[in-house]
Amino acid sequence: MSDDVLFSPFKLGGFTLKNRIGVAPMTRMSSPGDSIPRQDVLDFLVRRAENGAAIVYTEAIVTDYESAQGYPGQARLVTQRQIEAWKPVVEAIRKNGAVSIMQMFHCGRMAWPEVNPANRVIAPSAIGPAQDNPLTGAPYPVPDAMSAFDIQHVITGFVETAKGAVAAGFDGIEIHGAHGYLINNFLSSYSNRRTDEYGGSVENRYRFAHEIIQAVRPVVPQNRLLTFRISNWGVVDMEVSLYQDKAEWHQIIKLLSAEPIDAISVSTYDYSTTAFGTDQTMARITREATDLPIMICGKIYDRATAEDALEDADVILSAKSILLNPNWVDDIRKHRPLPLYKSEEANVAYTEAPLP
Ligand SMILES: Cc1cc2nc3c(=O)[nH]c(=O)nc-3n(C[C@H](O)[C@H](O)[C@H](O)COP(=O)(O)O)c2cc1C
Repeated sequence: MSDDVLFSPFKLGGFTLKNRIGVAPMTRMSSPGDSIPRQDVLDFLVRRAENGAAIVYTEAIVTDYESAQGYPGQARLVTQRQIEAWKPVVEAIRKNGAVSIMQMFHCGRMAWPEVNPANRVIAPSAIGPAQDNPLTGAPYPVPDAMSAFDIQHVITGFVETAKGAVAAGFDGIEIHGAHGYLINNFLSSYSNRRTDEYGGSVENRYRFAHEIIQAVRPVVPQNRLLTFRISNWGVVDMEVSLYQDKAEWHQIIKLLSAEPIDAISVSTYDYSTTAFGTDQTMARITREATDLPIMICGKIYDRATAEDALEDADVILSAKSILLNPNWVDDIRKHRPLPLYKSEEANVAYTEAPLP
């Protein structure tokens, strides 16, 4: 890989990224009252744009007031006040030459029902995660298997949240299909045991993601971006491979590639780990099945890992490094020696401690 690729432009949809480095989506749990993040959390995103990131993702924004929220203090983007709160953030990110993308999610069976006004837990099938909720120490509740009403209600939540993001001026929208949350619950046979048209074959398990993408795309103007995030791991039951094998992953990636989306964001715990019993990384495996731009993340922390990760991807995203080090992009540019942060160090994201 040429030294220059990391800092070379990249065409993503109608946008030209100034480099290949983005801020990964990071939940901050800072919106207790009205689903609007604390000002310092919003300022943090702008600061990362000021400091050279080409893309800035928001935290996962919750798509409804019923069952979507999985953590305390998550944000929403449907009321006028919520929309107004994001407008200056989006504007400031743009002024700094970066692209803003709102990520939206439904927690599915990774639920903490008390934080949802309607106190509901829904998933494709009535099976909870094996592991307890790491934040409460209690078992996850057994979800209701989703009815036709639930499916339509959730899709509407994604559409309305996308509209909120468009109204706030975001350059792009991301559908969060990763990490063991609702869309991933449908995609994976580990959590989807349905016998109707949403379960069984890969095509059937994919149907829910397809319906969301198809419903969301028309409200996202053609000159803005729609991306989809996917992973083979979940934040609980982490050791489980959520897809059976490379062939199944390829099937899903090919289905996604036929959709009107602008990029696939592949989330890994470690970008360099080989997957599905092969000697290939997730990015490499994904590249074999798609011509769409690929974003990759997971333990990319210095110049060498950033360049290596770009071998089979177009854009790298950082969470922990860019969270804890405001000068990360410049440090990468200058080949500075940099630490690999531990997960616990990133827990500061969930506190009120101001970030640099
Ligand atoms: C504090 C924190 C919050 C996160 N919240 C989200 C989120 O809201 N949505 C998401 O897709 N990933 C989320 N992630 C995962 C990251 O986007 C990323 O995939 C993961 O941390 C691996 O990248 P890293 O090694 O650079 O940290 C979060 C990670 C951290 C550290």
